[in-house]
Amino acid sequence: MLFDLAKVTAHQTYNLLIGLVAPRPIAWITSTDLSGKLNAAPFSAYNYVGVDPPIVAVGVGNRPGPGVVGKDTAQNIRNTREFVINVVNEALAEAMVTTAIDFPPGVNELDIAGLKTAPSAVVSVPRIAAAPASLECRETATIEIGNSRVILGQVVAIHVNDEFIDPAGPYVRAEELHAIGRMNGLGGYVRTRDAFFRVPRTTYAEWLQANQ
Ligand SMILES: Cc1cc2nc3c(=O)[nH]c(=O)nc-3n(C[C@H](O)[C@H](O)[C@H](O)COP(=O)(O)O)c2cc1C
Repeated sequence: MLFDLAKVTAHQTYNLLIGLVAPRPIAWITSTDLSGKLNAAPFSAYNYVGVDPPIVAVGVGNRPGPGVVGKDTAQNIRNTREFVINVVNEALAEAMVTTAIDFPPGVNELDIAGLKTAPSAVVSVPRIAAAPASLECRETATIEIGNSRVILGQVVAIHVNDEFIDPAGPYVRAEELHAIGRMNGLGGYVRTRDAFFRVPRTTYAEWLQANQ
């Protein structure tokens, strides 16, 4: 079936994209407003897009309703220029979803989800203490595009629980992290536990030898 995106609605386009750009990592973002009030929400329009400097990108839509008003996370990041991306594992899935509820202003989603924070090392926004890893970020730019925006952030510090680090690289013991990914919408997620398989890359010389 072919979908000409000039002929489908934005919601239908969304349905198609979230089914096909998957699994997606989840950036569980902590941010604060100018008065220091803490906010947490998950975003799966997320990836790293550079390493030198280390840049992450997050797509944040508008709040439901009329007008172009970015979600609290986007507003906070514009105002303070700082945020923390917390990694979500299986144990934290339900708490993460609780923080996606559109609570009225003044409600601390982390309190409701029963989560504690820990201080960050470089930015003033705290991280989620129970997260297996966190990326401290400074906003590089926010690019407004239509009814959404892409936030680019430079990672300035990375926390990883010792048990998930192989100091040799250092490498992340990603198979033990049990991070979850977002699949489609409708509450769909994917586990990474016992799901890894390896396809080693070969050099051109090795490929030639194997294919002669
Ligand atoms: C797993 C998951 C992924 C999400 N990804 C996004 C996303 O990429 N972009 C977005 O705008 N909203 C996304 N949402 C919805 C926001 O988390 C939700 O609108 C939240 O209330 C925003 O909170 P805030 O206003 O405090 O920033 C996602 C929700 C869930 C549960």
